[in-house]
Amino acid sequence: MFPEHRPRRLRGTAALRRLVSETTLRPRQLILPMFVAEAADAPRPIASMPGVVQHTRDSLRKAAVEAVRAGVGGLMIFGIPRHHDAEGSGATDENGILNVALRDLRAELGDDTVLMADTCLDEFTDHGHCGVLDENGGVDNDATLRRYADMALAQAEAGAHLLGPSGMMDGQVGVIRSALDQNGYTETGILAYSAKYASAFYGPFREAVDSQLKGDRKTYQQDPGNAREALREIELDISEGADAIMIKPALSYLDIVRAAAENSTVPVAAYNISGEYAMVEAAAANGWIERERTVLEVLTSIRRAGADMILTYWAVEAAAWLD
Ligand code: PBG
Repeated sequence: MFPEHRPRRLRGTAALRRLVSETTLRPRQLILPMFVAEAADAPRPIASMPGVVQHTRDSLRKAAVEAVRAGVGGLMIFGIPRHHDAEGSGATDENGILNVALRDLRAELGDDTVLMADTCLDEFTDHGHCGVLDENGGVDNDATLRRYADMALAQAEAGAHLLGPSGMMDGQVGVIRSALDQNGYTETGILAYSAKYASAFYGPFREAVDSQLKGDRKTYQQDPGNAREALREIELDISEGADAIMIKPALSYLDIVRAAAENSTVPVAAYNISGEYAMVEAAAANGWIERERTVLEVLTSIRRAGADMILTYWAVEAAAWLD
């Protein structure tokens, strides 16, 4: 008799497949990134991210309530200021768009969701870099850390539960942690973008935040070919006080997500970023792939790689499908 082994036996019915399924995908594991623009008087579509908009304060609040009702695990908020400058002043201004939006959302939602903020200057600077520049035009690590400490305090004061330092400056988690602690924000947490790669997949995000960037981020974000370095970044962030860590992007870095899951002592997030979203949307719009199946397969693969939570622009829609 051949074959002796028949793995297909466990795939024979939907009930059998359900019984032996190894990976769960639940709404609570999905985090919705959202954009709010100071200059918007109506929601503005982002052409390269069909279905995603730059919100007004008001439409942000409504969309956030809907997302929480749909069961998503959290919201990650990005602000787009009307004016950019070299220091990214809007980031630390208590009346800056991101800070007022956080205050709106915390007032509306209280502790019903986990409110997160992008703690990075690139949306606010006129040169588009994640930090401030030195006299040679390079990104000045330690001067940037002082800006991050102030930005973190403004976001904590505005009511964010978790701060998301995404600028890949050395020491950013430690500096933010001590600024928070010294100012009484001991319960405000840090979701550290620990292993963030210099990726071409951020393309549509540049449109999403009206990015002013010329050049690239290769002096601070990681080289796509490096894996060991990600483990070092993760270890440093955890030692500096990260409450959770993130790998970004997700799909081209599933091996890093897996390594993070095996090595991290804190929860692991993965960010299924703008370009990954745009590729699926574009192919689906052309009728080349089935949209819903593809989206769920993408999200399942990130969970299977080991991410506890996934930042995804499909969070609300996927939550409805999974319900
Ligand atoms: C930096 C930041 C970026 C993204 C999230 N935070 C852009 C970058 O590092 O260039 C990208 C998110 C996405 O592409 O969906 N503040």
